[in-house]
Amino acid sequence: MTLRALSVAFPVVALSIALSACGGTSEPPPEVDDDLPLPLVPGPAPTPPMGWSSWNGYSTHISDAIVRQTADVMVSSGMRDLGYVYVNIDDGWEAADRAADGSLQAGAGFPNGIAAVADYVHGLGMKLGIHNDRGNETCAMFPGTLGHAMQDAMNYAAWGVDYFKYDNCATEMNTNTIDQDYIEMGQDLTAATQTLGRTPIVYSICAWKFYEWSVGLGSLWRTSADIRPAWTTTEPNAAGVADILVNNQGLGAYAGPNGWNDPDMLEVGNTSAYAGVPSLTDTEQVSHFTMWAISASPLIAGTNLVSMTDATKNILTNAEIIAIDQDAMGLQGAMVSHQVVTATGMEKDVSIWAKPLNESGARAVVLLNSGPTPQDITVQFKDVGLRAGSAKVRDLWAHADRGSFSDKVTATAVPSHGVVAFKIVGSEPTKPKGTAFLSDLTWTYASNNLGPIEKDTNVGATAAGDGTPLTIRGAAYTKGLGMGAPAAAIFRLAQNCSTFHAEVGVDDVTKGAGSVDFQVWADGVLLFDSGVVTGMSPVVPIDVSVVGVRRLKLLVTATPDGPSLDRADWGNASVDCAD
Ligand code: GAL
Repeated sequence: MTLRALSVAFPVVALSIALSACGGTSEPPPEVDDDLPLPLVPGPAPTPPMGWSSWNGYSTHISDAIVRQTADVMVSSGMRDLGYVYVNIDDGWEAADRAADGSLQAGAGFPNGIAAVADYVHGLGMKLGIHNDRGNETCAMFPGTLGHAMQDAMNYAAWGVDYFKYDNCATEMNTNTIDQDYIEMGQDLTAATQTLGRTPIVYSICAWKFYEWSVGLGSLWRTSADIRPAWTTTEPNAAGVADILVNNQGLGAYAGPNGWNDPDMLEVGNTSAYAGVPSLTDTEQVSHFTMWAISASPLIAGTNLVSMTDATKNILTNAEIIAIDQDAMGLQGAMVSHQVVTATGMEKDVSIWAKPLNESGARAVVLLNSGPTPQDITVQFKDVGLRAGSAKVRDLWAHADRGSFSDKVTATAVPSHGVVAFKIVGSEPTKPKGTAFLSDLTWTYASNNLGPIEKDTNVGATAAGDGTPLTIRGAAYTKGLGMGAPAAAIFRLAQNCSTFHAEVGVDDVTKGAGSVDFQVWADGVLLFDSGVVTGMSPVVPIDVSVVGVRRLKLLVTATPDGPSLDRADWGNASVDCAD
């Protein structure tokens, strides 16, 4: 069955009319006036960068001509106008040696130099990206940056480069720590653009896994080993689409305007088997693109666009899926439910992913079947942070409105490794009234690195409901939220509340280990930052004004020692609101 043939079951329009006619439902009216859309946050990457990179499709076989032809196709195919504006030259553009003055120079494939390509791309209304490496060589053994960071940054800025990907090969002769190198290059790029009066360069950190120091430094940072055009792979130092999703999703709390988790470039359109592993099927390619979009990932096409098929083009140019990725709210979709059955003959693995969109009551929702057989998948509206009751459902691959549904909607026979993507527009949770514990409210978004966020217990391990009482330095809390850093939860206050209160700390279950940072954000503004709180720190009280706040976000970040044992408790987390 193709995705287009999928249908959702049980439209309930007639049923809800019948119920309201006999007085069976009485939903409060939506409170849309309190949920105004957020404006775009200024900066080099307010939404996840979109474009193309040469690596996945061409390896080092690249040239000035290929880059120009690709840029032309990005215009003629409509990709540029859909947001794919970065034209990125990856490894293999350089001459074998630096010039006499130490400058990097373009190789024979780029006889007019990089500045000429940048001019061409800029002339088409797009931007140019380039690649290098913090070692003495790139992975493809062209000259690396080691010892030349400032000189190279000045050249990139002078050539008109707009996007720089900094890789991690050949570091044996490099005595710096990895964070020193990435921080130095970030500073040098900033200095170079300021010196030459250019706009900031998008800084892509490619360190093959997530490091805490990337947040606030890069515009995007790789969270995985190199992607392969496969659903899953056992190849060392490489990852398939499904492998990447697993480790990227726990980092959702870090993603946001001007700083995105990067699960690597797209493999849509790359259909040759790689290292003996079968390539992605058509269904898997649709799922790959959709999961990157719900994850607010950079969308960097990685195929030969000049010869792409209509099928590839249809995937890359689905404007409704791109809109999920580019939504100005900037949230990385979280897995809100996961059902796994391992019994032989009954195997099942279905998950539901959701993110609030920048429109009152709107959620992007993806139903993913990672198991071996077709499955019906039902999403409950309350599980995506909406009120139960009526919501409108649109299918973003069928480009069809499915109508209004009550409480839930089902996608039938979602194929193995397939997805159904919905935009669901219902009602935001009701305004909190009086003094309300956050654990008694519905969050509109939650991302947690260790299973789900727990209400009124600590986070335990990965299973839902596996926590123990919230306890910080011997003090027990019967109400509160238990998180596993990095984690974030958003609550709708709808301008109805005056103060937020909590007593926070690392849970005693870690026996003094763990270290986190508690932050409170209101409509994109930082209200409170605890600094580093360890498993030995005393309880930290928080009392902040939330007058006029629409959306309250609680964020816990892990400190540079990583997320191990970072069980973060928000004891007594509550808001005082009008009645
Ligand atoms: C890898 C990187 C790839 C690509 C390649 C080029 O380290 O992860 O995305 O840039 O180097 O050699």
